[in-house]
Amino acid sequence: MWDYTDKVMEYFQNPHNQGTITDLEEGEKVVTGEVGSIACGDALRLHLKIDEATQTIKDARFQTFGCASAIASSEALTELLIGKKVEDAMQLTNRQIADYLGGLPEEKMHCSVMGQEALEAAIHTYKGIPIEVHEEDDGRL
Ligand code: FES
Ligand code: FES
Repeated sequence: MWDYTDKVMEYFQNPHNQGTITDLEEGEKVVTGEVGSIACGDALRLHLKIDEATQTIKDARFQTFGCASAIASSEALTELLIGKKVEDAMQLTNRQIADYLGGLPEEKMHCSVMGQEALEAAIHTYKGIPIEVHEEDDGRL
């Protein structure tokens, strides 16, 4: 618990980008990426508002059930994504999410992996690419 940085605690307690996207304008599209299972527990749903002409992420929102690190990682992810080109967003790694938070305890890195995977799912949906299943160990016990 006390391994968390101040930024993790701040983002956990006071996230700004929680929720869904409801305001859509002409030329904008919303895509959603989901990992985990909302019904079961740890789960993260990421909503992106993309401006189709410029291929830019105009807004990003999340709905996350999980621990403090998962909420903080989700908030960090949305902040990192807003204003980015879709092509650049695709390069984002879970390590960058963790670094943005000033680091995560090693056993909590999988919470940032959830963010990265939800992003991948959302972008694959946007591009019409089938979503690949991740077989590798993500640190989950
Ligand atoms: Fe899915 Fe309990 S409801 S593991
Ligand atoms: Fe399961 Fe963080 S979401 S430990």
